[in-house]
Amino acid sequence: MALGIFDSGVGGLTVWRALRPIMTEHTIYFGDTVHIPYGEKTQEQLVGYFQRALAFFVQRQASAVVVACNTASAVALPRVKEPPVPLFSMIDAAVRQALAVTKGRVGVLATRATTESGVYPKAFQAADPGVEVVSQACPKLAPLIEAGFRRGEMVESAIAEYVTPLLQAQVDTIVLGCTHYPFVLPEIRRQVGPEIHILDPAEEIRAEVAEFLRDRKPECQPGECRTEFWVSGDPWQFRDAVKVLMGLEIPAVQRYHVSGDVM
Ligand code: DGL
Repeated sequence: MALGIFDSGVGGLTVWRALRPIMTEHTIYFGDTVHIPYGEKTQEQLVGYFQRALAFFVQRQASAVVVACNTASAVALPRVKEPPVPLFSMIDAAVRQALAVTKGRVGVLATRATTESGVYPKAFQAADPGVEVVSQACPKLAPLIEAGFRRGEMVESAIAEYVTPLLQAQVDTIVLGCTHYPFVLPEIRRQVGPEIHILDPAEEIRAEVAEFLRDRKPECQPGECRTEFWVSGDPWQFRDAVKVLMGLEIPAVQRYHVSGDVM
């Protein structure tokens, strides 16, 4: 058995990176790169993509799936009535993490689909109605990062556009509500200054996954577990992006042809 990690593209690698040191099972990573950016897709499309991804993981006998994509966690996951395997959501992890540090004003940087779903304000409201949430859609960011950009003029100006409303609203905490964004955390930090908490929910999801793994028979030693990489788009492009973003040469990336697209 292997733990599944799912994202539209390279974003889930920020979660994979955080999970690697605690993994006692092999990993199957699937990036649905043919459909990126998820943030610009409709609810119907996202639900369809997610169902097909789950079918893929079930076919590969995944023990559980970390939905390392806020957009799928926000829009598609809640619509899966009977999950075939346990699913880990980025949203719950992010909210828990923010509540532990905020003084009451939280900014959420996320994709357009996540922002429009209203899932973050609702989740904060349910957990602590005293917390004020400012959500900011960042449609330019995930495509830039997916193309391998971590810095440079386009990244800087996109981040400036997106953090300005949060700074004006005087947030004390910023949630990176898209798994692609930790790749540009240094630039976000540079622009918002040292005082504001910037949270990468991967840290929190690691604690949840660790608890899940604790109850299971280890299949490999932490640090020695293998990862199979799968994408629905171009495997070479994915390998190149990983090299540029993480400085990592990953082994062969396999292609999974998704069919029956809702376009
Ligand atoms: N990484 C994804 C997320 O966490 C989605 C980015 C995209 O495909 O738009 O929301």
